Amino acid sequence: VKPPATVIFIFGGSGDLNQRKLTPALYNLFIDGWMPEQFQIIGLGRSEYSDDKFRTHLFDGIQEFSRRKDGKDKIWETFSKHISYLQMDAENPAAYSKMSDEVKKFAAEWKTEPHVMFYLAVAPQLVPDIAVKLAKVQECGDKQKTRVVVEKPFGHDLKSAHELNQLLNSLFDEDQIYRIDHYLGKETVQNILAMRFANALFEPIWNRNYIDHIQITAAETVGVEDRGGYYERSGALRDMVQNHILQLLCILAMEAPVSFDANEIRNKKVDVLNAIRKISRDQVHAYAVRGQYGEGWMKGEKAKAYRQEKNVDPKSAIETFAAAKFYIDNWRWQGVPFYVRTGKYMHQKTTIVSIEFKQPPHYAFPSESADTWRPNRLIISIQPDMDIRLRFQAKRPGQTMSLNPVDMIFSYKDAYGAGHEPEAYETLLLDVMEGNATQFMRADQVEAAWKVVMPIIEAWEARPPVDFPNYAPNSWGPEDAEALIARDGHNWVTLP
Ligand code: BG6
Repeated sequence: VKPPATVIFIFGGSGDLNQRKLTPALYNLFIDGWMPEQFQIIGLGRSEYSDDKFRTHLFDGIQEFSRRKDGKDKIWETFSKHISYLQMDAENPAAYSKMSDEVKKFAAEWKTEPHVMFYLAVAPQLVPDIAVKLAKVQECGDKQKTRVVVEKPFGHDLKSAHELNQLLNSLFDEDQIYRIDHYLGKETVQNILAMRFANALFEPIWNRNYIDHIQITAAETVGVEDRGGYYERSGALRDMVQNHILQLLCILAMEAPVSFDANEIRNKKVDVLNAIRKISRDQVHAYAVRGQYGEGWMKGEKAKAYRQEKNVDPKSAIETFAAAKFYIDNWRWQGVPFYVRTGKYMHQKTTIVSIEFKQPPHYAFPSESADTWRPNRLIISIQPDMDIRLRFQAKRPGQTMSLNPVDMIFSYKDAYGAGHEPEAYETLLLDVMEGNATQFMRADQVEAAWKVVMPIIEAWEARPPVDFPNYAPNSWGPEDAEALIARDGHNWVTLP
């Protein structure tokens, strides 16, 4: 069933996010037949654009960033008729009535009261002001039909996130607010729910009795590129751990949901966040490691140090790498460490989850075979590889009882063919149009996630690092990150 007729307003219409992600996602939804019969995408911005010039700008984005790079064909011709541009100064309250006029125009044309999506693809400091003015737009009075999508970063710390929540909740119903975390829209992330809760096989062993520890790695081979200005106020912990990585951790650690109701799933996730052991500020050094890249080489090209990047303080104390160890204090996970790490300019672009199981209780095989014994390990590759591999011991063919580890692999490519996966923004934008908030962050979730990282942020801000830069591009981050996990007798897992 297609979503209802919808007018989509994009604040920051001429910006990067719309060109790279939002319009390409809507375009792919259109090709796949998921867009409503009646819809209009209206880019909002201060710059001057004719509708045609705006469409060309977005078409260029599709050519460069969409998973499908079709030419100026019939599909684009039809799709682009649903795009227009509305020049408006979002700081001027009077300008907002122009949006009501647009909605009325389409309501008359389509002969139905459309749903309205307001997508705030703007700098975080603009969000409160826009939200206040938006709430006065007549259409926002219809709580069933109006939705507001808020991009990350959601707040700068616990206090500011709480204030933003209070403001938004005073203006809109919680059901109208869609706080986006694009990791939740990734196919491989959603598949973790399917794997865990649509199979009888995993659940009985998914706990402290069988699992030794869990790792999450989100490594990128890019540096901060031209985002120095943003990154200087963020750093890896705020940019990746507070949101994407903790959300992954929630999906891995949550209890089985009773249904797929949005609040049911979000209740189960927030339980995980609330159970994460609070690290005391004086213990942060034992639980978290920060790093910043120096200059070096990346894929044969000279790479600048972070402190030399544009809009970055030459003495910056901002981390471009973060690793941490968390414990979840509940019955299922007591004593099981969750190690997480993320960084820019890493050796490999890879996001993986590794679940390592405990040793078998008794090893009856000849002692020589013990040398090749490796623990059972389930690796979920989120990206760019998309597969799940289970490592177990097998007997090597021959007359001796010689064992070695082998992999059982489920690969998306082999099972479903390559390149059919919708992108995260496709899935999430469709969810907004359909009014399904399951994969979006509720107010309490965001705050609970901030509570987890606040002690680390506070400890780091109180004690500027003395050793930055402390890792080279094309490495796996600072040595301390290896030590963090080696102290417990483990190594970080990477794919071959
Ligand atoms: C964004 C961060 O939220 O996620 C970026 O701001 C990061 O710094 C990006 O590069 C990673 O997303 P993905 O989907 O490429 O893993």
